[in-house]
Amino acid sequence: MDLAPAVTFDRDNFAALLEERGLTTDQVNTRDGDPFSEMNLIRRAITQARTAVPFIYRNAVATLPETLTWITALVDDARAQQKRRDAITPVISRGRSLLLLGPTGVGKTHQAYGALRRLAVTGVSATWLTTSSADLYAALRPRAGVDSETEFRRYAHARLLLVDDLGAAKATEWTEEINFRLVNHRYENQLPTLLTSNVLPKQLADRLGDRVASRLIEMCDRAVITGTDRRRNAA
Ligand SMILES: Nc1ncnc2c1ncn2[C@@H]1O[C@H](COP(=O)(O)OP(=O)(O)OP(=O)(O)O)[C@@H](O)[C@H]1O
Ligand SMILES: [Mg+2]
Repeated sequence: MDLAPAVTFDRDNFAALLEERGLTTDQVNTRDGDPFSEMNLIRRAITQARTAVPFIYRNAVATLPETLTWITALVDDARAQQKRRDAITPVISRGRSLLLLGPTGVGKTHQAYGALRRLAVTGVSATWLTTSSADLYAALRPRAGVDSETEFRRYAHARLLLVDDLGAAKATEWTEEINFRLVNHRYENQLPTLLTSNVLPKQLADRLGDRVASRLIEMCDRAVITGTDRRRNAA
């Protein structure tokens, strides 16, 4: 593990997220020379989160009780595992998943990236891979020079995976198979996955297939975001 350089706090509101944890930006930037210190882990995580989060969600803060409960459970579990194994750092490895449902524009993606940003200030190691389902299918489409199976495994095995907009595109046999294999792998190995979808809860089975819906229902905490399209409201 490397020593992370100091981070600046004038761009987004990470300072406020830290404050909620009772930490100051000066504390986080205190260089103690220990690559495994909590402050070094937070500096690394903030730098990684800034790369992973798309520009319009750079200030996103997750506020749903279900999201906060999910994060707390993952963090508590990582710390408990660290103690049990006498490991140097707490790492998120296994745990429950979270499914955010709601119609277009209510704030599902905002909530998801808000969760990623919140996890960054917890001091546990959380390695994210983020994608939308459309980008996932594009990345896995068989083409010259790319081994689709290797690419698939990158998503299937990711420590923490965000799949935005599951079920948004018209399903084909091929996308159904990808959805099933991905969800099944994450389900069987209890790999924490954050999924968003604009499919209504009662339509999950119709839109994603019985076997995907059944696994999602067992493996995920669920939150339904209600309201109107924030984009239209803003316009
Ligand atoms: N809690 C919030 N506070 C402030 N702005 C928000 C919040 N939630 C969402 N927004 C803003 O509202 C817009 C729509 O949010 P978002 O993209 O998360 O919706 P969505 O539910 O993912 O929509 P879609 O189903 O089309 O993907 C974005 O501009 C986002 O930045
Ligand atoms: Mg979205």
